[in-house]
Amino acid sequence: MENNRALLFLLFLAVSAVFADEDVFIGVNIGTELSDMPHPTQVVALLRAQQIRHVRLFNADRGMLLALANSGIKVAVSVPNEQLLAVGQSNATAANWVAQNVVSHYPATNITTICVGSEVLSALPNAAPILNNALKFIHSALVASNLDRQIKVSTPLASSIILDSFPPSQAFFNHTLKPVLVPMLKFLQSTGSYFMLNVYPYYDYMLSNGVIPLDYALFRPLAANKEAVDSNTLLHYTNVFDAMVDAAYFAMLDLNFTNIPVMVTESGWPSQGDSDEPDATLDNANTYNSNLIKHVLNKTGTPKHPGIAVSTYIYELYNEDNKPGHLSEKNWGLFNANGTPVYILRLTESGSMFANDTSNQTYCAAKDGADSKMLQAALDWACGPGKVDCSALLQGERCYEPDNVAAHATYAFDAYYHMMGRAPGTCDFNGVATITTTNPSHGSCVFSGSLGRNGTFVNGTAPAMDSTTSSSSPSRYLNNNAYSTILTILGILVWSMILL
Ligand SMILES: *[C@@H]1O[C@H](CO)[C@@H](O)[C@H](O)[C@H]1NC(C)=O
Ligand SMILES: *[C@@H]1O[C@H](CO)[C@@H](O)[C@H](O)[C@H]1NC(C)=O
Ligand SMILES: *[C@@H]1O[C@H](CO)[C@@H](O)[C@H](O)[C@H]1NC(C)=O
Ligand SMILES: *[C@@H]1O[C@H](CO)[C@@H](O)[C@H](O)[C@H]1NC(C)=O
Ligand SMILES: *[C@@H]1O[C@H](CO)[C@@H](O)[C@H](O)[C@H]1NC(C)=O
Ligand SMILES: *[C@@H]1O[C@H](CO)[C@@H](O)[C@H](O)[C@H]1NC(C)=O
Ligand SMILES: *[C@@H]1O[C@H](CO)[C@@H](O)[C@H](O)[C@H]1NC(C)=O
Ligand SMILES: *[C@@H]1O[C@H](CO)[C@@H](O)[C@H](O)[C@H]1NC(C)=O
Ligand SMILES: *[C@@H]1O[C@H](CO)[C@@H](O)[C@H](O)[C@H]1NC(C)=O
Repeated sequence: MENNRALLFLLFLAVSAVFADEDVFIGVNIGTELSDMPHPTQVVALLRAQQIRHVRLFNADRGMLLALANSGIKVAVSVPNEQLLAVGQSNATAANWVAQNVVSHYPATNITTICVGSEVLSALPNAAPILNNALKFIHSALVASNLDRQIKVSTPLASSIILDSFPPSQAFFNHTLKPVLVPMLKFLQSTGSYFMLNVYPYYDYMLSNGVIPLDYALFRPLAANKEAVDSNTLLHYTNVFDAMVDAAYFAMLDLNFTNIPVMVTESGWPSQGDSDEPDATLDNANTYNSNLIKHVLNKTGTPKHPGIAVSTYIYELYNEDNKPGHLSEKNWGLFNANGTPVYILRLTESGSMFANDTSNQTYCAAKDGADSKMLQAALDWACGPGKVDCSALLQGERCYEPDNVAAHATYAFDAYYHMMGRAPGTCDFNGVATITTTNPSHGSCVFSGSLGRNGTFVNGTAPAMDSTTSSSSPSRYLNNNAYSTILTILGILVWSMILL
């Protein structure tokens, strides 16, 4: 008995570790309706600089998938709704889609997820009958390529298909959709995939006509007497996001599905809106997204499933000025097209994501008085094995002057540091480099501080100079992965126990 309890406890820790650490993430959606959409290499430079390690594309754009190759960034690709009918009506078309958009890029591009359609049941109800075939055909093509264990298949759904979502314990799926949802949930269960849900407390708040307090939508602390309590379960809800995710768990329970984890494929808040959208403000967008990130990464889980965090893709990376409709539609982004942040997220204590110092720019420069031979060696390394594009240092190019080793080394060190997303240990170069807030730009040689400069980024992950420059992170990373695999296996075993 004691042993069993100890084992259970260990398993519980294992589950928490799996769902909380390696497997729980914040990702970002990348919409492309911009009049000046950055080039894929610039997009990937931004992702790296901001330490964003998970992205979702609304299609399977070849240029983006090539740029994401060997970036360490995990990618969810999508079958756009326009292609859904073809894919859902023909196994061969589905197999071609997977061959062209997934197999040909994998594993260089780490595609982990295929989203089949987007909000199909609400946006394109006519396609509902073929949605399950599309899921199955895409999955069998992955099986045929032996990629079904690495790549999950699901379909992001709008939360509007969940009715009576408060209290969450009363929630159920729109009955009309039951004939589609039951086989879909069976598919997700049998393939170990996720229930993908788009969660927009902004719209819930807007449509509630004042019933939902703004603070409740923004994850702001509520007075205890204002907290929402589910009278059936006595669970306390402190924010709309958790209530929506639990509503999805209860709606699945209503159809007798208990062990399909929820993944939030879209959530966010617009930073600007029309005059009839007074709560689309910079401050509310910052508050929502900052709190959402902290909430997800804090491993809090939801009241129904505490400790089982819900990986979430923020909507979205860029403001999309070409989006039609309300002004808010164009303003869900964290960044402008040129890579400057729309607002600085408030992420104290939540790690290094979104390089929370985007306004306080940092640079990597040669140390004053450093030995010139050591500087030269480090410069040679950076421009060689370090894969920095040093063409700007050639005679006549924009960073040639002043032609001395310290200035050239500063250029190369800073380029490397930004290319590596300003990761700890990437501005050392055997002790001859230092991080500084002083902008080393001079004349035509411009240092941007937050993002990589144009032409600085090269394909592929640059290697570390040696053990002293790279810190211990690569080996720590490997250890973590092995550990995580074991934990994942344990976690899968226990997942069903906990949810049952
Ligand atoms: C891709 O991501 C998965 C999931 O995190 C990871 O286990 C795997 O090692 C990655 N593959 C590559 C080639 O980086
Ligand atoms: C669809 O094609 C895959 C190969 O891509 C095959 O394994 C599977 O049996 C086919 N399924 C159906 C329903 O035809
Ligand atoms: C349920 O779904 C059907 C089919 O999409 C739709 O016509 C109906 O309006 C939905 N009901 C509610 C209450 O949303
Ligand atoms: C769920 O299971 C219960 C008990 O086994 C059964 O009575 C009920 O009909 C099932 N509901 C659905 C939607 O299958
Ligand atoms: C993080 O989790 C701890 C305990 O699980 C909780 O006390 C704390 O309020 C949470 N913080 C946030 C920002 O959610
Ligand atoms: C973000 O802020 C936290 C707390 O201030 C800090 O520990 C962390 O290093 C910062 N991350 C970056 C990339 O600056
Ligand atoms: C920049 O950093 C300083 C000191 O670390 C801090 O007081 C200031 O608020 C930061 N500025 C911004 C815009 O984050
Ligand atoms: C790179 O950026 C600098 C300064 O922003 C600009 O003057 C230069 O023309 C750009 N070079 C290219 C190749 O785009
Ligand atoms: C990156 O790789 C692509 C395809 O291999 C190539 O066309 C492109 O020029 C490369 N970009 C850089 C900056 O090396």
